[in-house]
Amino acid sequence: MKKKVYGIVGHPVKHSLSPVMHNAAFKSEGIDAEYKVFDIDPSNEENLANFCYETELNNIAGFSVTMPYKLEIMKYMDNYDPISKIVGSVNTVENADSVLNGYNTDVTGAVQALKEKSDIKGKKVLVLGAGGAARAICYGLNEYGADVYVFNRTKGKADELAKEFNIETIDFRQIPEADFDIVINTTPVGMSPNSNESLLHADQLKGVKVVMDIITNPIKTQLLKEAEKAGAETITGARMLLHQACGQFEIWFGKSAPIEVMEKALYENLKT
Ligand code: ATR
Repeated sequence: MKKKVYGIVGHPVKHSLSPVMHNAAFKSEGIDAEYKVFDIDPSNEENLANFCYETELNNIAGFSVTMPYKLEIMKYMDNYDPISKIVGSVNTVENADSVLNGYNTDVTGAVQALKEKSDIKGKKVLVLGAGGAARAICYGLNEYGADVYVFNRTKGKADELAKEFNIETIDFRQIPEADFDIVINTTPVGMSPNSNESLLHADQLKGVKVVMDIITNPIKTQLLKEAEKAGAETITGARMLLHQACGQFEIWFGKSAPIEVMEKALYENLKT
């Protein structure tokens, strides 16, 4: 039998850390498969469609989806799970005999990452940003019983998200007085090469217990440095990345992911 192929679809995607995690998992579990990178040029809309139509031909049994395709991929799915429908994005695809099933493991990935350092139920949480990642995180937190507030540079987008998920919005100036337990950054502010930027500084984080950033490059963002100065615990983007990848493994193979193996592979390849 031909070796099964998995991979990540995105653009640009060559720096993705998914291949090292999944290939390490395949090796440790004795799975005869390879996880590749599929960099799909977004300048021609047909490229993504052709990739999806040719999965069987190319022996692709499943794939991860990242920027900029998490929304667009949905139109090529035969089915998708209820969470991807609510959140409006798919990050995991399973090819079941030419039937493409879409899933979203970002929600559970974020929740699992947060749970490593904090309870969620009853906590007052600030989410920075109102894009696709914020949607997944706000939905997950809300489901787990947090009291969720969203701040976004473009207020209208925060308002829309808040209305849809029945959560609150907050003005930037009110953040320091709002007594948040948890702050989560979902914006690209602080991402390399602008790694000295942070939406919030230590004096605006006083009393916050846990700060999480979903950025993975750099791993310790300026926001997380500010959080340490303010005495908060921190959660790096690597934790969400790891947990969403474990969720993908579980969908593809129907068994628990070898988390320690995947974690080791991830941390060996992270840029500090
Ligand atoms: P993702 O899917 O990663 O969430 P996205 O959907 O493009 O990406 O969303 C990016 C989020 O980061 C948005 O909330 C965006 O704010 P706007 O709605 O105002 O565009 C936010 N963002 C991006 N750059 C930002 C910046 N320099 N300062 C503040 N927020 C920023």
